[in-house]
Amino acid sequence: MVEIEKWTGLISSSFLKNGRVVEWLDKGTQYLLQWFKSIPDLNIIFFSMNVFDLIINDKEQVLFNDIFLDEANRQKFEQLIKEHKYIDELSQYGLPVNNKILLHGNSGCGKTMTAKAIANTLGKNILILNLSNVVCSRIGETSQNIKQVFDKAGREKAVLFLDEFDQIGKARGNDDKDVGEMRRLVNTLIQLIDYYPEKALLLCATNHPEIIDTALLRRFQLRINFEMPIPEVLDQYYNRLLSRFPIELQNIERKYNISFAEAKDYTFTLVKSELIKELEEKQKIVKV
Ligand SMILES: Nc1ncnc2c1ncn2[C@@H]1O[C@H](COP(=O)(O)OP(=O)(O)O)[C@@H](O)[C@H]1O
Ligand SMILES: [Mg+2]
Repeated sequence: MVEIEKWTGLISSSFLKNGRVVEWLDKGTQYLLQWFKSIPDLNIIFFSMNVFDLIINDKEQVLFNDIFLDEANRQKFEQLIKEHKYIDELSQYGLPVNNKILLHGNSGCGKTMTAKAIANTLGKNILILNLSNVVCSRIGETSQNIKQVFDKAGREKAVLFLDEFDQIGKARGNDDKDVGEMRRLVNTLIQLIDYYPEKALLLCATNHPEIIDTALLRRFQLRINFEMPIPEVLDQYYNRLLSRFPIELQNIERKYNISFAEAKDYTFTLVKSELIKELEEKQKIVKV
């Protein structure tokens, strides 16, 4: 209660002092709205989204060795990591390092996981932002939001992971005003990418690279494709997934032509159902 009174006091005094609209940027503190409504002098409150609330600050420790990658991709990521490890030494020879990477391909094949592993290996913070959450109807606001996120990642020399990157191209509307706004958003993004500091990494992921503006695509020094796993690779993945369970649960009917994520869900669902069956059998015996 004391907190609420403090806020109410703060806001009304700031309103009275400035005599203008209070622009309120915070988490969805719905309960405060009721209080604001009770302040007699407060006429208008803008509720605006804070883009930093949309950033996922993931601390999951993903190891590179846990990712199934084909040899060519593994080598590209190893080189990328080493370039950043020796960034200062390389810069002494005027050698730039790659830091803008597009990850494309089927969902559930390891794009997000790889971004986390890169951040983890380099000891960098990762900021995960799904662009479908940011691209809002007011495109002008979207540019501002994206700029704030780039600034934060650049300052922190972090890994910025923009998921569903194609949303930038997709939001193009039908009327001329939208097309103009969208072009401005793409231009803002191009500038942000061009001036993004070398010690920070930008990883963008998409399942639809074909709909991304070509001027944007050219900015990525590396473009890496994540393919659906062939049956031999999925078998290795199943072997690994199942190895933690008792031998009698390991003999599941395996499905192929699916992503790693689907194979994992499928396996876990089967194993869980088997385990539950066993548990229920045991309970029955106890009751009898
Ligand atoms: N290449 C892979 N190697 C091992 N596990 C994977 C791989 N791809 C996906 N997975 C599993 O599926 C989950 C979801 O994958 P994710 O990285 O989010 O895929 P994407 O971002 O490409 O949609 C991961 O957390 C992991 O458990
Ligand atoms: Mg993903």
